[in-house]
Amino acid sequence: MKAVADAPCKAIITGEHFVVHGAWALAAAVERRVKVEASEAEELVIESDGQRSSGSSGKRLAPVARVVTKLSEELRFSPRVLIRITSQVPESSGLGSSAATMVAVASALTKLKGIELATSEISRYAMTGETAIHGRASGIDVNICATGGVIMYKMGEEARKVRFAGSRRFLIVQSGTKRSTKTLIDRVSRMKVKYPGLFAGLANSASFISELAETRLVNGDMQELGRLLTYSHAVLSTVGASTPNLDRLVDLLLALGCYGAKLTGAGGGGSVFAIPREGSTDALIAELKSRGYESFQTNVPTEGVKSWLR
Ligand code: PMV
Repeated sequence: MKAVADAPCKAIITGEHFVVHGAWALAAAVERRVKVEASEAEELVIESDGQRSSGSSGKRLAPVARVVTKLSEELRFSPRVLIRITSQVPESSGLGSSAATMVAVASALTKLKGIELATSEISRYAMTGETAIHGRASGIDVNICATGGVIMYKMGEEARKVRFAGSRRFLIVQSGTKRSTKTLIDRVSRMKVKYPGLFAGLANSASFISELAETRLVNGDMQELGRLLTYSHAVLSTVGASTPNLDRLVDLLLALGCYGAKLTGAGGGGSVFAIPREGSTDALIAELKSRGYESFQTNVPTEGVKSWLR
């Protein structure tokens, strides 16, 4: 018998980095998924994209082993399982590939062992792998990958699902540069130490922007939401999360008619999140491709992680 789980990846709409320091942030699930299969085995084996680790895991897969160990110790089952990971999500690109993986691992494994966990519990276990990778993570990534849809999130509070009628479409553009979330969290945190008063003000305003963005999204006011995104990018750039290349990409998207654009996730490379004008997306994707940028349109999948037995 095999248990299978899949989880969507994510984009942070507003509030990244400041969420690590207690601000509210708004995040959406993105229609690219990570699939995990779990089955009983002689020992703990983890396979991902041609990499395989068993026993004490190799570096890249060690965070996954941590989630398995934590679950098996707390829920008292044998950690001798084969975990097989297949991902549609590019790594180190700000789209939460590690969070979606950890969430899907926790979900598949508990399904295999016949244990029902609440979404918040799946996020909590997934978080042990996330902190192993990113150090000081807020938890927004695992929460949105587990829940799906759109959430408002603040550390220490239960994620709140944002409900709206109809679909919302966004554009994700890959900058082509991979980076480490941990390095960027550390860089932005140094700004807090250097300019505590300014940073506190920006964190407060990030919360306010996230609340405004939630209202605009719910009302379908994509033009106004776009303005909030572009503003947020400027603030993230000020605290050191952007790069000249990301700034140029945001400018390009605005020049091509998007309502707004910003880096999403940790920045330093990774992806840009944009709101295209209605009816312009196909031409926009082709134009971006001609300039060397991969991009895709996504709506917001309402379903988060799901699991089943096979
Ligand atoms: O780039 P990602 O997917 O790792 O997103 C990180 C978002 C941060 O706010 C920078 C960190 C966090 O844990 O909230």
